Amino acid sequence: MIEIDRLQCRYPDGTVAIKDLDITVPEGEFLLICGPNGSGKTTLIRHINGLLQPFAGSIRVAGIDVADAEEEVRKLVGMVFQDADSQIIGETVWDDVAFGPQNLGLSELEIQGRVDWALNSVALQNLADKPCHLLSGGEKRRLAIAGVLAMQPRVLIFDEPFANLDYSGVRQTLQQIITFHQKGHTVIVTTHDVEKVIAHVSRVVVLYDGELRADGPPALVVKNLSRYQIRPPCYSLLGSEPISWLTA
Ligand SMILES: Nc1ncnc2c1ncn2[C@@H]1O[C@H](COP(=O)(O)OP(=O)(O)OP(=O)(O)O)[C@@H](O)[C@H]1O
Ligand SMILES: [Mg+2]
Repeated sequence: MIEIDRLQCRYPDGTVAIKDLDITVPEGEFLLICGPNGSGKTTLIRHINGLLQPFAGSIRVAGIDVADAEEEVRKLVGMVFQDADSQIIGETVWDDVAFGPQNLGLSELEIQGRVDWALNSVALQNLADKPCHLLSGGEKRRLAIAGVLAMQPRVLIFDEPFANLDYSGVRQTLQQIITFHQKGHTVIVTTHDVEKVIAHVSRVVVLYDGELRADGPPALVVKNLSRYQIRPPCYSLLGSEPISWLTA
């Protein structure tokens, strides 16, 4: 589904944020990209949906080169940003979720259907008429997810989805992410806080200083996380089995 080939990112100020990275993500995978602050996680996923263009190397999504077809790729890859506020553009909750489908040029009926479905998916249907700036942090995160869902992308990328969420917010967001994966979406989550999602992912990639340092099934990769300044999940420190955050 996603083929990243010798990707390099050099920002205009000379910062080299990604160094020669190769990753292939098959359709339907649930991938965790972890790494400490500044390791290049956000930079990498911004390349996957065409918000940033490679300095060198290439990225293909569903066989399409991102450099040739940013608009097309953005329909395939939905991204929920680290900072939900930066993603909210509508005045009310309903307007905000409708914005994307309206830009696709869909009929009013189709737009209505997609917005209602997306708001129901994140349990925000009762707040449809509320001004976005009055929402709580957790509600804003759910709104950002609804906005992406309404576009019906095949790949969903969540950048630090649990930041600033309380226990129940983490569980709701995690449940939604798992459901998207179960429905067949390819799902990518980035975080330095692996504890919250590790029990559910099929693969873990470790970024460190812009380089890929580990790539494999969770059971193998978690053992070495502390080498890369990432806190290993409690279960691995205790030598026990993975524990889901959905387990009460
Ligand atoms: N627009 C930019 N211009 C210059 N340097 C940048 C820019 N954006 C990010 N960087 C640098 O690139 C590196 C990787 O940043 P990035 O935001 O991808 O890290 P991250 O792994 O997402 O970190 P965090 O966990 O803090 O979100 C950092 O050294 C950062 O300072
Ligand atoms: Mg980041």
